[in-house]
Amino acid sequence: MLTKAPKGTRDILPDEIYKWYFVEEKFRQICHQFGYHEIRIPVFEHTELFQRGVGETTDIVQKEMYTFDDKGGRSITLRPEGTAGVVRSYIENGMASWPQPVKLFYDIAVYRYENVQKGRYREFHQFGVELFGAADPSADVEVISMLHLFFNRLGIKSLALNLNSIGCPTCRAAYNERLKAYLRPKLERLCSTCKDRYERNPMRIIDCKEESCRSELVDAPALLDYICEDCSRHFEKVKEKLSAMGIVYSIDKGIVRGLDYYTRTVFEFVSDTIGSQGTVCGGGRYDGLIEACGGKPTPGIGFGLGIERLLLQMDSQGIVIPQPDPPDVFIGVIGDRAEQFSESLALKLRTAGITCHKDIMGRSVKAQMKYANKLNARFAVILGDSEVESGKVELKNMVTGEGRDIHIDTLMDRLLKSRQGAV
Ligand code: HAM
Repeated sequence: MLTKAPKGTRDILPDEIYKWYFVEEKFRQICHQFGYHEIRIPVFEHTELFQRGVGETTDIVQKEMYTFDDKGGRSITLRPEGTAGVVRSYIENGMASWPQPVKLFYDIAVYRYENVQKGRYREFHQFGVELFGAADPSADVEVISMLHLFFNRLGIKSLALNLNSIGCPTCRAAYNERLKAYLRPKLERLCSTCKDRYERNPMRIIDCKEESCRSELVDAPALLDYICEDCSRHFEKVKEKLSAMGIVYSIDKGIVRGLDYYTRTVFEFVSDTIGSQGTVCGGGRYDGLIEACGGKPTPGIGFGLGIERLLLQMDSQGIVIPQPDPPDVFIGVIGDRAEQFSESLALKLRTAGITCHKDIMGRSVKAQMKYANKLNARFAVILGDSEVESGKVELKNMVTGEGRDIHIDTLMDRLLKSRQGAV
């Protein structure tokens, strides 16, 4: 136990962290281009926020939250998603009085007690954006086009964009009655959670993962066929605008999303190359959520993008993320005098922005050079008493094996120039 991470969590080790830096940087770049600013929200919130925000009858709230009482007796939950926390912050910090729309992005760890498998973890990471204050279909399209561009920039080609509209509370009430009529004769065969959802939130049944329930839902009525005129007009506009921008999509009437706050447009980007957990990104509009959480009526839309699934997708397509540059130089040392000299030299080189490693293990010269090789250092110098005395060192190109006698004072310049291709 002591030396094993809890099920569903994993360390991100130094040899893969460059991939995370790469996608994080690309995400930040695109967010800034689209006018989003980063928000950092707490890892935990009051449990009630998720009960109210995500919904009492969702799998997340009913089965998957990490909830505990703190020492003050408050019920606390590790965030199972980002939207509710960002909405809480929007209200708490009076963002309604900021220039609208308010555009926020985040890069967070998320916690859900789920069955673990490839692409499904208990601690995972999401990029997300939340856009507040814009009710127009052009907001939906801007958010979707941002994802479209992001995936393109990463070289990801094979994600399908699936779109649906799940209407507003008005159309949903009428739909729920239809759905209940359809499910009434099947009620006995549904799982206990769905039996409970039948009265409280029948639409949730559509999203049940139990095989027994899924088979009862094959011919279930689709919400898209029952949405009201306003919602329908909104959806038509979204589709029209996407087509005009050349963004290819399919309509998937089965998308209801696993969270209760959605209204109107919902969408997913789905992969067929990373296994059963193929939804790389999901999002949609949530025009009632801010009010439900205690704010003024404010429209909202956003998405969450699983970073682990994004990296799985890139890997499955053979997209190579550039490795970080190797160290510029390794400084080997022999003897106390050289040791002291090399410490000042290393600081000088590092101050100039050069990536420099030096021996701090008191190893033999042979072992130091072996280590320099392992580091993939581009150059190496070895300093002993005579080098310090004369100021002359051999600069060894570790790639070609070539050595060149230089004066130590020119080392920094040469290393800087070597980055531009000249030694
Ligand atoms: P979600 O669909 O629950 O939506 O999660 C978004 C993404 O997180 C998924 O598409 C998937 O890539 C990733 N994900 C979900 N669960 C796991 C897991 N157990 N392991 C690994 N990755 C996972 C939300 O969270 C909403 N807050 C998105 C949103 C923002 N809608 C509007 N604004």
